[in-house]
Amino acid sequence: MLKTFIGFLGLAVAALCASSSTLQNVVVPKDHPLIFFHGRWDKSPETWWAGSGFKLHVENLQSLSLSLGNHTTTPLASIGVSVDYEPFVTVNVSVGTNTIIFEKSLTGAKAKSVVRINVEGWQNNRINLENIILNPGARLLPYTPSRLAFQFIGDSLSAGQFLPQGVDQAWPILTGEYVKAEHIVNAQSGAALTDIVSFGNQHGLSFQFFRTEDTGYYFTTDHNFTTPWEFRRDVPPATHVVIHIGANDSSQNVTQAAFIETFLNFLSRLRTIYHTQPIFVFTPWGWLNAGGTVSQYYPDAYQQIVDGRHRLGDRNVFLVNTTGWVTFADVFPDNQHPNVAGHAKIAGLFEKWLEQWGLQPEILWSTPI
Ligand SMILES: *[C@@H]1O[C@H](CO)[C@@H](O)[C@H](O)[C@H]1NC(C)=O
Ligand SMILES: *[C@@H]1O[C@H](CO)[C@@H](O)[C@H](O)[C@H]1NC(C)=O
Ligand SMILES: *[C@@H]1O[C@H](CO)[C@@H](O)[C@H](O)[C@H]1NC(C)=O
Ligand SMILES: *[C@@H]1O[C@H](CO)[C@@H](O)[C@H](O)[C@H]1NC(C)=O
Ligand SMILES: *[C@@H]1O[C@H](CO)[C@@H](O)[C@H](O)[C@H]1NC(C)=O
Ligand SMILES: *[C@@H]1O[C@H](CO)[C@@H](O)[C@H](O)[C@H]1NC(C)=O
Repeated sequence: MLKTFIGFLGLAVAALCASSSTLQNVVVPKDHPLIFFHGRWDKSPETWWAGSGFKLHVENLQSLSLSLGNHTTTPLASIGVSVDYEPFVTVNVSVGTNTIIFEKSLTGAKAKSVVRINVEGWQNNRINLENIILNPGARLLPYTPSRLAFQFIGDSLSAGQFLPQGVDQAWPILTGEYVKAEHIVNAQSGAALTDIVSFGNQHGLSFQFFRTEDTGYYFTTDHNFTTPWEFRRDVPPATHVVIHIGANDSSQNVTQAAFIETFLNFLSRLRTIYHTQPIFVFTPWGWLNAGGTVSQYYPDAYQQIVDGRHRLGDRNVFLVNTTGWVTFADVFPDNQHPNVAGHAKIAGLFEKWLEQWGLQPEILWSTPI
């Protein structure tokens, strides 16, 4: 049994435990219709891919326990917990009962809260939900999703590899939070877009994106297989699609011509799912070197990819030129991946780009608190 306190107002929590002990907890089974799942869950249900999770809208919330089954990553999986749209706080959870106590609800008897939970890691990211146990008197309400829903596709540069809080500190989720969108991230460290073995990934994103499991399935003894993803389960469907990939194709010596062809085929296949949504194609910001030089890869390729779609009559694909967005100060010197401040900077630049493109951030989240 693991107990974690998520504190916002710094109130004492001891009294709460005593007063609720005589009443019945509210047990929410894993298939309860008011659990608002997002991202990729298999049938257990268990999570795959960084950022997958669920949201709850709860009246009179004081505590929440996650009862997790034996497909949960051992010894632990790190999840982000956000209450009332505050930044995500890391909680490490394991098989069994994991209790999270919220101090905030002590301020009002019938307060409504939104709790959002997701897995932070691009690996060790499986939580196998059995049920959710709420304090006595808590009641689930419907969660109304945002009008905006962002789908991100990428590699380690989007998955938040090397960040203390993983994907919850990475630019895709930071951007999603800023515009108040639902956000789904399918990003796999070390993976190429091309369907090749790359740095421990059995497949590239052009294959794995269409699967429920991330490429970690290959190293998982209790689930060593991959199944098709049913895109109708993405509720709400994505309104915007963002793709930032290619670094590992380049590391694997995929030629520029082959990369462009793979990318164009991938976009054609995406258009069978996202018929008209805007698709944003990031150029690389490159690998930053200590002397200030930048190692670039696939020069012109991304422009050619976008031009290729335009030639097919698809005007709703846009190039996001990230040249110059990242400097050496924005990356971890030893692995050249953006650091915490670097991800925040990238998110800020993309948010500005989106506003210039014509996207208005939502003013309020759709589920009020
Ligand atoms: C996992 O849990 C299931 C159902 O509770 C049980 O049938 C199975 O034997 C367990 N597996 C392991 C490895 O503990
Ligand atoms: C979660 O576990 C990781 C890995 O053991 C550890 O580095 C981290 O400090 C833990 N975080 C919290 C909030 O307990
Ligand atoms: C590609 O994979 C290598 C090896 O895992 C890693 O060092 C590099 O950072 C990866 N790049 C991206 C963008 O995922
Ligand atoms: C998963 O299956 C593949 C064969 O499909 C095998 O090569 C691999 O070693 C297996 N992984 C584990 C962790 O069992
Ligand atoms: C890619 O090409 C470089 C230069 O020829 C070579 O050093 C490297 O080993 C190659 N990498 C792979 C993964 O084939
Ligand atoms: C991206 O921006 C840089 C710097 O402003 C510029 O040199 C480059 O031509 C741009 N690339 C494309 C494809 O527009």
